[in-house]
Amino acid sequence: MTDRLVVLFFFFFSVATFADDTASSSSEKLTGIPPSANQYAQISTDGSVAIATVNTYASNIAMAVVAKGGNAIDAAVAATFALGVVDAQNSGIGGGCLILVRLANGKIYAIDGREMAPAAANRDMFLAQGKPNPELSRTGALAIGIPGSVMALYKLQQLGGALKFRDDVLPAADLADTGFRISNSMAERLAATSAKLATFPASAAIFLDENKKPLVAGTMLQQRDLAATYRRIARQGPGYFYKGDFSKKAAAWMRENGGLITLRDFSRYQIKLRDPIVSEFSGYTLYGFPPPSSGGTHVAQILNILDEFDLPNISPSNRYHLIADAMKFSFADRAHWLGDTDFTAVPKGLTDKRYAKLIAKKINLEKSQIDISHGNPDIDIQALMNKHTTHIAAADLAGNWVAITSTVNTSFGSKVVIPGTGVVMNNQMDDFSAQVGTANAFGLVGSEANSVQPRKRPLSSMSPTLVFKDGKPVMTLGAAGGPTIISQVVQTLLYTLHDGMTAQQAMMQPRIHQQWNPNVLFVEAAMPAAIQQSLKDKGHELKIWPRMGASQAIELRDGKLVPTAEPRVMKQNEK
Ligand code: GLY
Repeated sequence: MTDRLVVLFFFFFSVATFADDTASSSSEKLTGIPPSANQYAQISTDGSVAIATVNTYASNIAMAVVAKGGNAIDAAVAATFALGVVDAQNSGIGGGCLILVRLANGKIYAIDGREMAPAAANRDMFLAQGKPNPELSRTGALAIGIPGSVMALYKLQQLGGALKFRDDVLPAADLADTGFRISNSMAERLAATSAKLATFPASAAIFLDENKKPLVAGTMLQQRDLAATYRRIARQGPGYFYKGDFSKKAAAWMRENGGLITLRDFSRYQIKLRDPIVSEFSGYTLYGFPPPSSGGTHVAQILNILDEFDLPNISPSNRYHLIADAMKFSFADRAHWLGDTDFTAVPKGLTDKRYAKLIAKKINLEKSQIDISHGNPDIDIQALMNKHTTHIAAADLAGNWVAITSTVNTSFGSKVVIPGTGVVMNNQMDDFSAQVGTANAFGLVGSEANSVQPRKRPLSSMSPTLVFKDGKPVMTLGAAGGPTIISQVVQTLLYTLHDGMTAQQAMMQPRIHQQWNPNVLFVEAAMPAAIQQSLKDKGHELKIWPRMGASQAIELRDGKLVPTAEPRVMKQNEK
């Protein structure tokens, strides 16, 4: 079978395999009732608002606020607060988020709600005897950055929500009170992190049983403290979180547990409105998220490189090889150049088509580049692929298009819950480079550009993206899964915008990921064997992975909103 036939075969096979995952558009009761079927992607009954998340409870809540007169912005804000209840391993108000929004009036905003290092942070804070101690940046007090999600979501809601902020927060508070059934994905993450959660009493009290064993899938979990925190935020707005009781409790916990974040750090936290990265691909205009994320930069850079090739006439295995090498060049640039632009200069030329042309000339379609000056043999590849985050896509026919990627970084972040609040705190400080050339939890290395500095934001891979055709929005998308976020978004955009697939078809294609360090090509197990062999023949060291990532998208097709949620997550939760 030729390469091309193999891919077509895979495509039809996979459509058949995943066909039962197609999300339904009907909605269920708001809270407390275990969903009878996965309904991660939903459309309002009149077809005017769509949502896609990784969780049925969250999507149900989004549709419930729409039923009360909310628009896509209300739906997205409500779903994001709900995910902090039902999907706390990935995101929540103790973390940060990056938001791209196109309002019905045509204005576009990139809202940076990324965590910040506290004022007392310093470059060497994660070193012990001159060597990085990864535990310090991953677990416990020092791992925590000042959270940004509450302020960013509030800003989004104020910019264009049709309801009041509290209307978008209270359904999630009700859900936290009433409880929900733990999903397979949360249960798996609880099992993997229970030993660390056990070391923090407020975390153990929520997520472990009386024998300190992780709660299992199907268990009803109520979170009364979190519900109370949400209700206060609903009533008092972000002030409660940044200047009120929450910040006082958090700062007191920090003082007692060796943390650096003070009350003043909370009160000085600011979201930033950034200039999006704007690029062109296949006749579409893309808006991506700028630093402190690397997402928008490298999605644009990789697609620019691909654009230099005659894609329709390249065989599937050559195309996967080309994507892999384009990723490798881009991630090498990420490691060298990227950081928070409030502290470091990131060259604008990274997304210039002329730069892509130079890189394209270095790519040989017969052989992978051996361009690695150093590797990192200690990287825990299992850990690299396991980490998460979450993406929420929402859109309405009035013209509001939202892409939110929200995270506490690795599973349950720092594992710390601030006592009396129910809030899981992030471990986003691990996204800084503890030391030049030292890998973080995702195996990513960085330079001085991403070193720890007071009030700096750590580099992210989050890639909320909006797509426009002739100035009109046609797609919102994004993904979860550490650095694979960039690779997933690139692949979804390539297959939809260039190849003409639907987002659902695009997400069903086997994914690859190459991040320069480690110099390994991650390939999903579903990749046809002939293509795997061809990639090996071209010099790639393959690491076969069962499934990679979690993307969400909404498209405008024939005037209708079409939401798509990640088929891989649905499969996992159906086991
Ligand atoms: N914490 C993962 C990211 O922001 O890329």
